[in-house]
Amino acid sequence: MIQPRSFPFGLGFFTSLLLLLFFYVSKLYFFRQYPYHIIGPHARQPLANNIENSTLGFEKVFVVGLPERSDKRDALALTSSLTGFKIDWIDGVRGETIPDKALPFGVDRLKLWETNLGSWRGHMNAVRTIVAEGISTALILEDDMDWDVRLKSQLKLIAVGALDLQYPSTKTSPLPESSPYGNDWDILWLGHCGEVFPELLEENAIEPPTDPDLVSVFRKYTIYPDSTVPPPEHTRGFQNFSAHPYTRWVHTSGGPICSFAYALSQQGARKVLFDLSVDHLAGPFDNALAGLCRWGRGKERLGMRCLSVTPPLFVHHRAKGAVNGDSDIQSIGAGELREVGTTENIVWSARRNIRNSLVGGIMESQFS
Ligand SMILES: *[C@@H]1O[C@H](CO)[C@@H](O)[C@H](O)[C@H]1NC(C)=O
Ligand SMILES: *[C@@H]1O[C@H](CO)[C@@H](O)[C@H](O)[C@H]1NC(C)=O
Repeated sequence: MIQPRSFPFGLGFFTSLLLLLFFYVSKLYFFRQYPYHIIGPHARQPLANNIENSTLGFEKVFVVGLPERSDKRDALALTSSLTGFKIDWIDGVRGETIPDKALPFGVDRLKLWETNLGSWRGHMNAVRTIVAEGISTALILEDDMDWDVRLKSQLKLIAVGALDLQYPSTKTSPLPESSPYGNDWDILWLGHCGEVFPELLEENAIEPPTDPDLVSVFRKYTIYPDSTVPPPEHTRGFQNFSAHPYTRWVHTSGGPICSFAYALSQQGARKVLFDLSVDHLAGPFDNALAGLCRWGRGKERLGMRCLSVTPPLFVHHRAKGAVNGDSDIQSIGAGELREVGTTENIVWSARRNIRNSLVGGIMESQFS
């Protein structure tokens, strides 16, 4: 016999059970590409769900590109909207429009191409916007970026890794609640052409590595198995991916090449604006930024805290059509035509799956 009082209790209990089941299933659904031992640590992460928001858990997403490259703007507007995030454009700059008087200390205009200067200025305008508007964190992309359609799930795991590297000894204490990526970083380098791990840099080749600072610099957070990493024979980078198939690492930056995609904290943006403009400029933008991460780590320098993801989450897309349209910095491949667009290291390319996303089709891998 049902007692009168037990009815609301039973109903409440049943509803809670349903809700719990719903959250459990939706979480598993979100991470269906990953085995449980990988998604487990995710539970400890405050604000993790903000990574699903329309700015990927950052305050802003900026894209730097020349206004006249409407082809790249159209493609990026479409791909980002299909992946579920919103971008703000920062107009790229032509090098020749920058007067000599505006050049940072140390720039030799003849050695640095005008196109490199233009690229530097476009990035600096994004960085200056972050500083001037007091933006807490922002992701900056170049305008030919591509990524995996599972970007948000990937970023959630990268955030777990970034938190693990920033707060290694706080396995049980609460994590900071202002950014899902943590608060103790300047640069999160999410897109690059490849980089060596810091332990392989000559200045770190001190045997044995007992210096606690170096030991922490060499720590890595390993995501394995990661089905969003291509098969080893198709993974490009400086690591031996046959020895480490389907593996992605979050690690202290060694010396990344290319500035495809990087996030800056407010503190990071201030350091970059100082070191790559107000104080001096030592070369092309990406090399200068990598140099800042590599040489600026010491407290007596700028105390840089740069983290990278290898293989990267963002890579430049080589679009179908005229090959010389790829870069606004270099002119290569004049007269050549590409029949199918490609992107290194990205399995379910968002760019190549636009049609599938539009019609609700099955995602296609670039590597099978
Ligand atoms: C997304 O989350 C981040 C981190 O919590 C936050 O700073 C940002 O404002 C959020 N974006 C939107 C559009 O709500
Ligand atoms: C990479 O690793 C594989 C498997 O462990 C090994 O056979 C191969 O020799 C390595 N390649 C290089 C260049 O070290």
